[in-house]
Amino acid sequence: MKAELAPRPGSVQEEPVVPPAPNGPSKPVPAGLLPDDHIFVDNVVKRFGDTLVLRGVTMHLKRHQTAVVIGGSGAGKTTLLRMLIALEKPTTGHIWVDGDDIAPLGEVELNRVRQRFGMVFQYAALLDSLTIFENVVFPLREHRKKMSRRDQRTKVLDMLKLLGLEGKEDRMPSELSGGQRKRVGLARALMLEPKILIYDEPTSGLDPITSRMVDDLIEETRDRFQVTSVVISHDMTSTMRIAHQAFLLVRGEVIASGTPDDLAYGDNEAAREFIMASGIAPDRLSRVGDEKQAGDATVKYKAM
Ligand SMILES: Nc1ncnc2c1ncn2[C@@H]1O[C@H](COP(=O)(O)OP(=O)(O)O)[C@@H](O)[C@H]1O
Ligand SMILES: [Mg+2]
Repeated sequence: MKAELAPRPGSVQEEPVVPPAPNGPSKPVPAGLLPDDHIFVDNVVKRFGDTLVLRGVTMHLKRHQTAVVIGGSGAGKTTLLRMLIALEKPTTGHIWVDGDDIAPLGEVELNRVRQRFGMVFQYAALLDSLTIFENVVFPLREHRKKMSRRDQRTKVLDMLKLLGLEGKEDRMPSELSGGQRKRVGLARALMLEPKILIYDEPTSGLDPITSRMVDDLIEETRDRFQVTSVVISHDMTSTMRIAHQAFLLVRGEVIASGTPDDLAYGDNEAAREFIMASGIAPDRLSRVGDEKQAGDATVKYKAM
């Protein structure tokens, strides 16, 4: 019943790797970068005044996988997320995206970096007074000003169709179900064709059936659009379903990381306690079938 433990991320390959240098030979190579790192959070400390919010966080977020950052309220999850999408700068440390250090960049370059990320906000964060079409086209109007109105419309309608929202473009958000609104938020996040999708508490406040649909949607999206997913969550059930790697953040420190199975069954007591405190028994969570691989469209779990 207990799935075999996979090696913890970082435990296999600790040698710094020299990536190809797309920006020329002078590009600095971060020590510790691993070959499949899409984002490398490199010993990040964040301080607001006297408050130390992140205390040296290191994470390897692998390309085309789903990383879930879990932790209780006040742990520093939102702060970490805001630094990933370059809305905040680390006090010390670095964040490498595609091998580029984004910490020292100026506003113009940061704006370009931000477009590599798509953000799916908690509760979808749709503008209630705008139609579905107007909500989804918004990033194109902001960032693709040279794109014709007709092409923008085609792109939006194609995306709505892909996400099972065909014919909903003239509806208002209030006319859609919770799951549909999530998909609208996702459609909007995908408009600029990001390589990394960040979800802030995607299943928060949803019933179990809709949560499961959202989990499936996260996995299908990762597979179909070949993105790397980063999910901020305090939903352990969802984490066990979708995470290739999970990071448990407590008071600004990653105190455990690895596959969900590592956290549930490993020797890190704090991780096991966190899972027990979430009210779900680990023995109901073990995965069925083989280790998930990036690129799998379907993820099979025991019935929850
Ligand atoms: N701009 C800020 N100024 C001062 N303190 C902040 C700021 N943003 C977050 N904090 C503090 O950092 C800690 C972590 O917050 P946050 O990242 O929102 O945690 P989480 O998302 O895990 O609930 C909290 O104690 C919060 O008060
Ligand atoms: Mg938060």
